[in-house]
Amino acid sequence: MCGIVGYVGHRPAVEILLKGLKRLEYRGYDSAGVAFFMNGKIQLKKSEGKLENVEKLLNASEPPYSSATCGIGHTRWATHGKPTTQNAHPHRTGHIVLVHNGIIENYQDLKKEIITWGKTPQSETDSELFGFLVEREVQGGASFVDAVRKSFTRLEGGCSVVVMSENDPGVIVGVRNGSPLVAAIDPQGGAVLASDAQPLLDITQEVFFLEHGDVVVGTEKGIEFFDLKTGAKVQRAMTKIDWSVEKLDKQGFAHYMLKEIHEQPTALVDTLNSILDRAKTDPFPLALQPAVGILDKAEQIMLVACGTSWHAALLGKFWLENWARIPTHVELASEFRYRNPVIMPGTVVIGVTQSGETADTLAVLKQMRELGVPTLGVTNVRNSTVSREADAVLYTSAGPEIGVAATKTFSTQMLVMLLAAGYLAIKRSASSNKEVTKLFHDLVKLPMLLSQNLEEGGAWMQVIRKAAQNLYKSKGFFFIGRGYSFPLALEGALKLKEIAYVHAEGYAAGELKHGPIAMIDNEMAVIVIAPCDRWRDKTISNLEEVKARGAIIVGVGEEGDEKFRSLCNHWIPLPHASDLHESLLPFLVAPIVQLLSYELAVLKGTDVDKPRNLAKSVTVE
Ligand code: F6R
Repeated sequence: MCGIVGYVGHRPAVEILLKGLKRLEYRGYDSAGVAFFMNGKIQLKKSEGKLENVEKLLNASEPPYSSATCGIGHTRWATHGKPTTQNAHPHRTGHIVLVHNGIIENYQDLKKEIITWGKTPQSETDSELFGFLVEREVQGGASFVDAVRKSFTRLEGGCSVVVMSENDPGVIVGVRNGSPLVAAIDPQGGAVLASDAQPLLDITQEVFFLEHGDVVVGTEKGIEFFDLKTGAKVQRAMTKIDWSVEKLDKQGFAHYMLKEIHEQPTALVDTLNSILDRAKTDPFPLALQPAVGILDKAEQIMLVACGTSWHAALLGKFWLENWARIPTHVELASEFRYRNPVIMPGTVVIGVTQSGETADTLAVLKQMRELGVPTLGVTNVRNSTVSREADAVLYTSAGPEIGVAATKTFSTQMLVMLLAAGYLAIKRSASSNKEVTKLFHDLVKLPMLLSQNLEEGGAWMQVIRKAAQNLYKSKGFFFIGRGYSFPLALEGALKLKEIAYVHAEGYAAGELKHGPIAMIDNEMAVIVIAPCDRWRDKTISNLEEVKARGAIIVGVGEEGDEKFRSLCNHWIPLPHASDLHESLLPFLVAPIVQLLSYELAVLKGTDVDKPRNLAKSVTVE
């Protein structure tokens, strides 16, 4: 979704804006632009397409922009109006120039009103209208900051803006009410604002996350916060970010996605360390925190999520029901929020969202809070909106995930749900202590096992690459599995669709014969996920059915399962089941389906880290 960066201070503003916007590219965008002060006037450079187009415009411009020390920039993910240069941000209305992220729901009413003032918006966007409101407030006698504040109170829907005025050089004003906004003081003197913390890390690790209804004013002296409704000054607490700027680079990998797949062992260890109480010796000792108090009281759990996070939630259901014997339901947030569901007393609703910003998931948590239902969030982004909407949060510690396709955040989401299940299993004596202890010991071994298999000389990289080379021209792909492997089949197909743009479906293996098997012929590839678990034999029968109809088979199964292997055209081995509890196999299968999709996408030549039409945090419904 849209990205915002603003800077004022003593450094070259345009460089900071471009670098910051590059750091936000992972959010997805289809046009971009910057605005900056030069000799007391604001210049705009914007274009449809990638940021490089804006850079070209800048390089061709006179006079050179390098002396500018105040400006704002934007990457736009089109919602209202096509992704054209005209609709790209920043927008100018008279002396007001602004960037906007989110949706102005009452834009049609505002537009009608603005037209009655004799004004004509130049773009199809809702965003541009805000400039007319600010201009009118200033004409009515308000100061620039107050005009932005008052105008913002007229907007319905969740959004954030950052605004400059040609009459007030050296001032940038941001408002947050919905879409996130983060601010920081430049230690060299100045202020920087952005949609998330990543662009700020080049300048400082000490940041301020704006609350809903905060106005921030940045000048070369630093930042001040005000309340949106009253205009009164407010104080906000600083947060020290532990993500270093190095973590934002590719570190020798061809793509962020590949790097992030390889970071899964570390992400799992970091998440274990951050959630467990290392001083305790019992298995699954969750560190005491508000989230644990809420879990303790759960008689029923409802997991709500979208996309990949929904797949992680499907696995969470398996673990919570199997180990903790807690009835668990999994819901797509976009469906659940409009369904008037029955929530039984004792239910805890958990919103699972790597970004912490997904509009539908947040909407469910908000509805539940209004109904008095206890809520939890599972997220990777500290201080993201979910931490405000949920009663408490369990954080994954995957580190920054820049590739749009979720990989290490998926694994760490699974881990959090497994940890919760193991903890509740012990607390409620719902499973045998011996079994849960074995599960925990195996879990501790898991990161090492994963890293051995992921190494270049390990079991996976070469066979996956080879399979991809043989398969990438296939007409379509099915991922099939049963039990734990079914959500992974869904995830494999989603990954492949989103980054390789090919038709792929994830299916419960037993469902194939109820319709989709009609699609199978010798141009179709079927990825059969059948580790040696209690579902293996049934899945192999389903494999035989598609093989008989000519499908090319890729098997993901236990090393040494020669029967299974002999039925496959390609074989990706999993470590021996004796090395690991079957509940943990999803952590090994996840990187396999991610890598297979990655390799297929590379062969297709797509933009792996920034797939078309997609955004990393989906802040609109
Ligand atoms: C796919 C992917 C998406 C997200 C979905 C929800 O790789 O990343 O399907 O999982 O948009 O996002 P979050 O987890 O941020 O709520």
